[in-house]
Amino acid sequence: MQILPVAGHIGAELTEVDLRDPLDDATVADIRAALLRWKVIFFREQHLDHAGHIAFARRFGDLVTLPKRGSASPADHPEVETTADRLELGGKFGMDHAEWLERRRHIPLRGWHTDHGARLDPPAATILRAEAVPPYGGDTTWTNLAAAYQGLSEPVRAFADTLWAEHRLGVGYLAKSGPDAYLRHLQDHQIATAHPVVRVHPETGERLLNVNPYYVERILDVTRAESRLLLEMFVEQVTRPEYTARFRWAPGSIAFWDNRATLHLAPADTAHLDHPRVMHRVMLAGEIPAGADGGRSRSISGERLFPASG
Ligand code: SIN
Repeated sequence: MQILPVAGHIGAELTEVDLRDPLDDATVADIRAALLRWKVIFFREQHLDHAGHIAFARRFGDLVTLPKRGSASPADHPEVETTADRLELGGKFGMDHAEWLERRRHIPLRGWHTDHGARLDPPAATILRAEAVPPYGGDTTWTNLAAAYQGLSEPVRAFADTLWAEHRLGVGYLAKSGPDAYLRHLQDHQIATAHPVVRVHPETGERLLNVNPYYVERILDVTRAESRLLLEMFVEQVTRPEYTARFRWAPGSIAFWDNRATLHLAPADTAHLDHPRVMHRVMLAGEIPAGADGGRSRSISGERLFPASG
């Protein structure tokens, strides 16, 4: 297996491995080491089916089974979530796709997120497999939260180590003036957690700047004005281009990312391409995050994703 880095801080393509073959323990250990080192790893021309995708993922941990999945997800494989129905999501709440994106992404950089980051136990990793993608466009981008933390000055790192933030589903959603089905959905399904601003990675021990503009409502125990300015600084830091890598998909591509050590940005340029983008996602169960101050994340509302998570 070859490991070919794609950017200075994050991302590597792994070649000369066929994920349809049963993987021996040494290969699994090499893939895990590459994931921890490069935060997101890419494989190309891997034409796995759902069962093969699940079997590959199981070599790395327990899998998350979501209580609800979109209509395109395979009924007979509850671990697989198919995101072909992303474009239908707005329709479910009475909006066309443009309005849906605009209302959810109207604040700068809002698309950057960790998967299920408002839960008490966000997934440890995500393995996303492309079945159909547009001939151009539709790229995904990731950023390295360990590099972002290291890039702060020492006094700011020490200050950030002491901070906690509320992560909440639906932050920044621009509600309609009249009845709004999505707002009602958010109110009925509140998910929120107090997470450390600096999370300690459970495997590498690295400190991670655990802030994103999609879920973070506010920094706790400071004034609203201070929270706004601190978030502006941290969000600018985690989205600096030098910490990122961008991936061009093809059918059969796989991206496997450490959901604790990265944020990612799904493409927003596909709606007008008039080409299907069908992606299948399997997630590895995560743990309750620990902060630099030794504290553990605390649930504000909502269930765990993986009830056995420690
Ligand atoms: C995601 O945001 O979780 C999916 C990324 C993608 O579809 O590119």
